[in-house]
Amino acid sequence: MIIYEGKDYQDVSRKAANIMSAQIIMKPNAVLGLATGSTPVGMYKQLIEWYKKGDLDFSQITSVNLDEYKGLSGDNDQSYRYFMNMNLFDHVNIDKTRTYVPNGLEEDSDKACADYNEVIRNVGGIDMQLLGIGGNGHIGFNEPGEAFEKETHCVDLTESTIKANARFFESMDEVPKQAYTMGIKNIMAAKKILLVATGSAKADALYKSLYGPITPNVPASILQLHQDVTVVADEDALSLI
Ligand code: GLP
Repeated sequence: MIIYEGKDYQDVSRKAANIMSAQIIMKPNAVLGLATGSTPVGMYKQLIEWYKKGDLDFSQITSVNLDEYKGLSGDNDQSYRYFMNMNLFDHVNIDKTRTYVPNGLEEDSDKACADYNEVIRNVGGIDMQLLGIGGNGHIGFNEPGEAFEKETHCVDLTESTIKANARFFESMDEVPKQAYTMGIKNIMAAKKILLVATGSAKADALYKSLYGPITPNVPASILQLHQDVTVVADEDALSLI
């Protein structure tokens, strides 16, 4: 595992974008596992800037996103599909038919999840998976206490995750209570993992994930067993390490 410390959010975003860019340049038809949340926004901005300068080409890239709220359509401005369009896909030359996000509108959870596992298999697996981390150590929407061996599944979001995400919605009641998420098994099957974290609210989760016992109670702790993990974090997020 390699840990890079960035000076601040911008520096972390640029360093993470450099690592993602290297993947894109070395393998122009790479499958990128992408993530939402506020943390990767700066990284996406940097990638867009480099694309506009002519330094990056997304035309052969495929992407698979980690998760989506159950019940939200891609047009809903709080859906993760909408987030990806706004923060990356609409600004680069990626072929949108090769950008995958779980189908939040599929009511049959088993079907939504089986379909998404099929997508991941059909694209040939993930070359580089980007991850943020929740304050409780969740990755994607794999909440504490879930089995490590799951593939894509439907989760009941924890109270703390619902609260943390409420800032994006008009009221707590509007925050979806369930989501479809890639499982830890999908994430661990990625060839490379890039974890990005900033701010003191992530310090405890980051410490436990990188140095604590490997336990489903801290979902990101499983990353200690992956052979190619790069962490980019700021001083605050690394403050307990
Ligand atoms: C959500 C997402 C995660 C993300 C987490 C942290 O729960 N499903 O993928 O890592 O939020 O978000 P943020 O980066 O805004 O702190």
